[in-house]
Amino acid sequence: MPYLAKPNIRYQTSYLSALAEYKEEGLDAGPPIFALADPPTFDRYVKDICGKVNNRSAIKSDPPPSVVWWWVEGSRYLGRISLRLYLTPYLASYGGHVGYDVRKSERGRGVASEMLKAALPLARSMGYEKLILVCEEKNIPSRKVIEKNNGFFLGYSVDGEGKKHLRFQIDLTGIR
Ligand SMILES: CC(C)(COP(=O)(O)OP(=O)(O)OC[C@H]1O[C@@H](n2cnc3c(N)ncnc32)[C@H](O)[C@@H]1OP(=O)(O)O)[C@@H](O)C(=O)NCCC(=O)NCCS
Repeated sequence: MPYLAKPNIRYQTSYLSALAEYKEEGLDAGPPIFALADPPTFDRYVKDICGKVNNRSAIKSDPPPSVVWWWVEGSRYLGRISLRLYLTPYLASYGGHVGYDVRKSERGRGVASEMLKAALPLARSMGYEKLILVCEEKNIPSRKVIEKNNGFFLGYSVDGEGKKHLRFQIDLTGIR
């Protein structure tokens, strides 16, 4: 059974192959693969991802810090979900609290829907009562992921390039 794990060097091999998939489709996937192939560099990378925040009282910065979990099965990396500790006005319209992606070879099997579902109780335990989620109008899979997790449609926002974004809210008060 897959579960949310803290980023860790034990997933390095699988993470690097996922990174290659992200880069192949043109997603901004962070540092170059050759750099992260070096175990000490990878170890520093995951510690950097994990080390920034543990609670919501972290010092305010823009962009806000995020908590990151990897969705893993055994030693396999399937995807990633992140939770921003707070929103700036820009992010409230165009980013939301939650970011997620699934490696291309694992898409279309319910991975993102399950991953978001698993993250909701964690967000609740961190003190969130509601989450804002935003996706581009054309991102049908992402929209479905949010709706399957009881995302309530709040409205549209249009960015400076004229792209339409859909804003949703997920109420966490009933979630344990
Ligand atoms: C968006 C993303 C995370 C979805 O991941 P996923 O694991 O494939 O999502 P799921 O399998 O849970 O699918 C959710 C729904 O979308 C549908 N779906 C998946 N891919 C689809 C596609 N290409 N076209 C239309 N519907 C699609 C699924 O059938 C499912 O709907 P259903 O429950 O009615 O069957 C993934 O496509 C991704 O990583 N995209 C790039 C990064 C990104 O866009 N992140 C979100 C930013 S807001």
